[in-house]
Parts: sequence; C-alpha cells; structure tokens
Amino acid sequence: MAKILVVDDDPNVQRQLQYTLKQEGHQVVVAGDGAEGFRLWGVEEPALVLLDVMLPKLDGYQVARKIRSEEGEGRHVPIIMLTTDGGVEQRVQGLRAGADDYLIKPFHPAELVARIRSLLARFAPELSSDDQRPLGRLHVFYGAKGGVGTTTLAINAAIGLHRELGRKVVLVDGNLQFGDHRVFLDLGLDRKSIVDIASAPAVDADLIRRVLVRHDSGVDLLLAPPQPEMAELVTEAHIGQILTILRGLYDYVVVDVDKRLDDFNLHILDQAETIFVVMTADLSCLKNVRLVLETVGHLGWEGGRVKLVLNRSNAFTGITVRNAESALKRTIEYQIVNEYRGAISALNSGAPFVFTKPDSPLGRSVLDFVRQVDRTAATAAELAPTTR
Ligand SMILES: Nc1ncnc2c1ncn2[C@@H]1O[C@H](COP(=O)(O)OP(=O)(O)OP(=O)(O)O)[C@@H](O)[C@H]1O
Ligand SMILES: [Mg+2]
Repeated sequence: MAKILVVDDDPNVQRQLQYTLKQEGHQVVVAGDGAEGFRLWGVEEPALVLLDVMLPKLDGYQVARKIRSEEGEGRHVPIIMLTTDGGVEQRVQGLRAGADDYLIKPFHPAELVARIRSLLARFAPELSSDDQRPLGRLHVFYGAKGGVGTTTLAINAAIGLHRELGRKVVLVDGNLQFGDHRVFLDLGLDRKSIVDIASAPAVDADLIRRVLVRHDSGVDLLLAPPQPEMAELVTEAHIGQILTILRGLYDYVVVDVDKRLDDFNLHILDQAETIFVVMTADLSCLKNVRLVLETVGHLGWEGGRVKLVLNRSNAFTGITVRNAESALKRTIEYQIVNEYRGAISALNSGAPFVFTKPDSPLGRSVLDFVRQVDRTAATAAELAPTTR
C-alpha cells in the first residue's frame, strides 16, 4: 500500500517492523543509522518514516530536523518517533524536531498499524472521493453471553453505517458453526461462504470479492458455512488474512462473534480496533463481562478498545444501568433500547429493522449508536497523532 522507511539500529526491531508492515501490504526500506536514514529518505521518497531516537551517526531528532529543513514547500512526510522513554521531555523534543507522532517501545503491532494508517490518511494527497482509501476499521461485536442480541446489533449496525453514514461496509459472520446471518437476512444455503475462501489454494482480494454476497441494503456479507462441520476448514490464519484484506477494501469490517474465548475468536479480537461487548443487565452477563475485561487485561490489550453495549437497556431486570456500572467499576458506553416485537419480527421476516423500519424506537436507537461510533472513531483517528 505505501512505502515506509524504518530507521532503527536494532536488528530485532527491524525484523519485527518489517514483518508487521509487510503483513499490512506495505513496502519497507530499512536504514541502520541516522545518516543512512536521511540519505534513504531523499532517494526512496517514502510515504512515512518510522524513526528511532537513539541512533548511531545522527540521532532521531537530528534526522527529523534535517528532513523538515530539506523538504520543499507543501511537502510533509509523516514521521513517527520510536522512543524507549515515555517522559514528556522526550516527546516534546521529538515533536519540536518535526515528528507527527511517537510510540513508546515496546508497543503492540496493532497500535503501530493504527497510527500508521491514521497518519497516512491524514497526509494523503487530496483525492477525489471515489479514489479515497477506505478507513479500514475492524469493529467486532462480541456477545458476553448467548442470546443477548449480538447478531441483531452487528447486522443492524453494519446496515446503519452504510445507509445512514454512506460508509462502505462488509459484515462477517464469525460464528462459523451456527452463524445466523442467513436466517436474519433471508439468504439460502446455496450462497457462498467463508469456506469457499478457506478451501481455495491461495487467498486474495479477487477471490474474496467473488465470495461476498451483496445484501439489498448495500452491505456486503461474508457468510458462515452452510453446515457446522465445515467450520473446521477455516483456520486462524485464514481469518487473519481475510480480515486484513477486507480492511484494505472497506471503511468498516464488522464481525459478529460469540462468547467463546478460543484461539479463533481471540485472533479476531486481537486484530480489532474496537471490541463491542454486547451485554444485558443480568447477573450471569455481568459475571461474564467482568471475566472478559480481566482477560483483556491479562492479554495486555489496551483497555480503551473495549466498549460495553448494554442491549435492551430499559427492560426491567431488577438491575439498573447504574447498578451494572458500579458492579463492573466502569462506564457502559452505549445503550440500545428494548423492543422485543420489533427485534423478533425483523428476525423472523429476514428484514433487518434498520433497513425496513429505521424510524422505529429500536431503529433510531441503533442509528444513534452508529453515529456515535463513527464520530468516536473519527475523533480517535484525528487525535492519534498528537495524544496517547
Ligand atoms: N434491543 C432488543 N430488544 C428486544 N429484543 C431484542 C433486542 N435485541 C435482540 N433481541 C432479541 O433477542 C434474541 C436474541 O438475539 P440475537 O440472535 O441477535 O442474539 P445473539 O446474542 O446473537 O444470540 P446467539 O447467542 O444465539 O448468537 C432475538 O429474539 C432478538 O429478536
Ligand atoms: Mg448470534
């Protein structure tokens, strides 16, 4: 996708960065010291520079300053400083030298990828809207418990993001054994599924495009296999590759996953920009949400990626939103109203309510949710270069 210059003297860091960036489809040029980094910037004209601070010959600040003084008017290569120290002084010095963002080592590859993506988007040359690079946001809907409405929300949010906000959206049924999307969207067992990708000799964007099913709403679908026993043909490597390719093609990749924290689901969750944990206000759900939050902490994932979505929020359960928040010791970010008739009749007719009844209370509630989600993601992308 883009040519990226890595300036770092540590061969292990070089290798890791090369691996991560190539996985994302970038071309990588490597320099082992500051002087070589500056020279390669001039020769290679990269789209972005990853610049270590402590370097032989010229340090990262000097390289950044030299690049900025040599760049012509109207040119600006985004620079991300890689520091080992989170101290304010280092950060300020980096920003003064002309860096746009910084990362403190060690960092998670997902964070690096997200920051690169946001900087590339911010400094991309102006293109006509047709040519614009997709946003590539991977949003996963994870059910803290079975039956809480995860599939309902994933499907209707995906349609809302497309119909209401004009985003290009693909919806992936990550519940490989018992995926419900064919039922919810009134599609037969003859439609292609993720198995058609997994069983091909090589996975690429053309193959994926041929397997996707276009729903009447305009959202593209990657369906679960028609039979549960076919699920085992799809490996973690497949789903990783598929999601990476889809992110390059769509603004939003929305994935519906069930409550299992097995390797397959963890692989999906690990790549997610945002994990919407769907819950209802009952004790077993609160217990599961607590366990999920703990697991996220153990895995060292950034807690801010997890957002809680309380479905059926105004249904009487004896547990109020405030009770639930104090039990969890955290805020519940989003709430969706309870409207059993609307939800079940949409399910049974195969016509999602956001598509057919966007003005119903449930339709409006989900549309409010997607507007907030889209706004939050846009703000996060905007803030990413200057804040941590
Ligand atoms: N906001 C809502 N108000 C009322 N009923 C709802 C709401 N959201 C979902 N439901 C109903 O809850 C039931 C379960 O929904 P859904 O299948 O989406 O949940 P799920 O978490 O994906 O379940 P599963 O564990 O089977 O995958 C359905 O009958 C659906 O109509
Ligand atoms: Mg479901």
